[in-house]
Amino acid sequence: MNEILEAILRRRAVKVFEPVEISAEIREQILNAARHAPSSFNSQPYRFYWVGTAKEKVAVAKLCMGQMPAETASALVVAVADIGSFASTSRCQVEWMRSRSEFSEAKIRDYERTAKIGRILFMPGPFGIFAAVKWGLFWLVNLWKVMGMPPLFRRDLFKWAMKSTSLACENLMIAAEALGINTCPMEGFDGRRLSKYLGLSAHYHEIVMVIAVGKKSHAYVQPPQWRRPLDATLTIL
Ligand SMILES: Cc1cc2nc3c(=O)[nH]c(=O)nc-3n(C[C@H](O)[C@H](O)[C@H](O)COP(=O)(O)O)c2cc1C
Repeated sequence: MNEILEAILRRRAVKVFEPVEISAEIREQILNAARHAPSSFNSQPYRFYWVGTAKEKVAVAKLCMGQMPAETASALVVAVADIGSFASTSRCQVEWMRSRSEFSEAKIRDYERTAKIGRILFMPGPFGIFAAVKWGLFWLVNLWKVMGMPPLFRRDLFKWAMKSTSLACENLMIAAEALGINTCPMEGFDGRRLSKYLGLSAHYHEIVMVIAVGKKSHAYVQPPQWRRPLDATLTIL
């Protein structure tokens, strides 16, 4: 079977890990795979926190309610949706475009214009006032025009950013599996306390999941994997 498919089908949520060290090289490879996931407007609206030192791991595992995968993992990755990163991301992309010969000045200006429109569009404003006005306008236009509703309110922006963050998380887990490392995604954590611990801002950041990373314990017996039948999850038109 194809190697990528094999890693996808082999991946399991492992609940107990062996105490092994994850090398810096492996860490970089799996995080690099994460950031290569597709993202809306290529905005990569996330930040990963790699928790690898013993003291920090104990603290974060406690905030994952002492779950076994968190307690026994070699490292914990906290995946954070970051809706405050637009401006720095587009600046970074412009710098990158300027460093390459493929992009004409006109193309760069074009990108800058689009990025600026995007930033204005995605700005909810104080108490969501801009978002409410934009929502009303879009709703009216949508009465006669086919169009998608952009994420306008802060809640929508988080939902939007969480989609791209989740895809990056899946890339991370598949890459880990391909490199012989196991994982367990977890949403069982105290979001308020963990955000405070990491110094996150409720305005811009939301923790999407914590991924326990390590090597499956020999003593851990993995239950068989169950999935709904394909036709229960699929409609072919
Ligand atoms: C968003 C998400 C949250 C999850 N949260 C937890 C969790 O808090 N604790 C845990 O032990 N497993 C958690 N899991 C793992 C699931 O229980 C596991 O993926 C599911 O039972 C299927 O098992 P498999 O991944 O081995 O096929 C989570 C999985 C996902 C995708």
